[in-house]
Amino acid sequence: MASISGYSIPKGWKVLVWFRSIHYDSELYPNPMEFNPSRWDNLTPKALSFLPFGAGSHLCPGNDLAKLEIAIFLHHFLLNYKMERANAGCPLMYLPHTRPKDNCVAKIKKSQEPRGVSADQQLASSESESVMEALEREYTVLNYGVRAMAINLPGFAYHKALKARKNLVAIFQSIVDDRRAQRKAGNYYAKKKDMMDALLDVEEDDGRKLTDEEIIDVLLMYLNAGHESSGHTIMWATVFLQANPEAFQRAKAEQEEILKRRPPTQKGMTLKEYREMDYLSKVIDETLRVITFSLTVFREAKKDVKINGYSIPKGWKVLVWFRSIHYDSELYPNPMEFNPSRWDNLTPKALSFLPFGAGSHLCPGNDLAKLEIAIFLHHFLLNYKMERANAGCPLMYLPHTRPKDNCVAKIKKCGSAKA
Ligand code: HEM
Repeated sequence: MASISGYSIPKGWKVLVWFRSIHYDSELYPNPMEFNPSRWDNLTPKALSFLPFGAGSHLCPGNDLAKLEIAIFLHHFLLNYKMERANAGCPLMYLPHTRPKDNCVAKIKKSQEPRGVSADQQLASSESESVMEALEREYTVLNYGVRAMAINLPGFAYHKALKARKNLVAIFQSIVDDRRAQRKAGNYYAKKKDMMDALLDVEEDDGRKLTDEEIIDVLLMYLNAGHESSGHTIMWATVFLQANPEAFQRAKAEQEEILKRRPPTQKGMTLKEYREMDYLSKVIDETLRVITFSLTVFREAKKDVKINGYSIPKGWKVLVWFRSIHYDSELYPNPMEFNPSRWDNLTPKALSFLPFGAGSHLCPGNDLAKLEIAIFLHHFLLNYKMERANAGCPLMYLPHTRPKDNCVAKIKKCGSAKA
């Protein structure tokens, strides 16, 4: 039995020491909710009234180190940066730790702005790492909701995706605002127009410019459509090659041949070399077929349609299921097998190979995607090999086909050649 401040605590009772109630006690800290560093000017806290690191035999052994770490960060931050939160008034969550519910999405800016911003790369090339990380995080959440049931209730993927979209819009809005301000202030010197410049400059036939909302919509769509798709296909091509040593050797030999022909003064891969990658192109087509990254697209009949003896009434929704075409054994014998050689003498019939869709919504990034995948595989085949941690791991299919363990693997340098 322990006695403390007139209370008795019987042996065996559990006690929760609630530090926050001490730190928010207005007798100890007047106006306690206010962040006011000056309150510490002449304050030496009474014993046990300031306990951020606990007390007694379990006092945090890292307390001095923690204060040093925080001071080092703030030293650099105060001298060089400023932060603009995307949702400054965002509500808080308290478990496991107190933090804003949006995970503090923010833009960190260099405070001593360099004169003139170079934008000779792609959109967002000049954005800070934290913005890129925030984009990646929000896009991941958005993707989980894209093909989810449209249930807009907390906890559901669709609800989370709508919130992620809101956060993405806030991030893009601040990028658009910045670029507009730089261009207006005349301190923006682009060596080469990037996507953002193109969108700000574009004019309709009647001279109308795009609104911020339209620009942000395009950015949202392009980054979403172009990022996960190529990334997943690259991962699968790597997995298939590694699991099929014969295909791996043939693809690698082709890249080595290309390297042998490369003049010693040439740096990196050229478009001409890309066009010579005959086998690699088959590896990519076979990966696109087996994986069918966009397994389906949604359409609505704008008028009554008759197709293959079926009638689709106006207003009906149609799901075009690409995978069933790519797995049709009449078109692709033994369709589950990854076999790049099936493309040796195969020119697919119209509408029988649709990794990039078809018609007026045909993917505008198809050539770019194949080039990106080829560049990655060129370097991968020449320099690396992959060892998956769980090669037989089951798959998940939504939002996209991938191993449930997210393809945990070890990538090793194999150092056969320099690309
Ligand atoms: C392996 C990579 C890719 C695959 C498998 C893929 C697949 C597709 C498919 C199937 C569609 C048609 C959607 C529909 O009909 O509703 C589509 C549309 C689209 N893709 Fe891709 N895509 C890839 C890469 C890219 C890249 C790299 C970009 C841009 C940088 C891109 C931008 C777009 C856009 C903007 C659309 C919408 C077109 C429209 O609705 O008019 N895609 N993609």
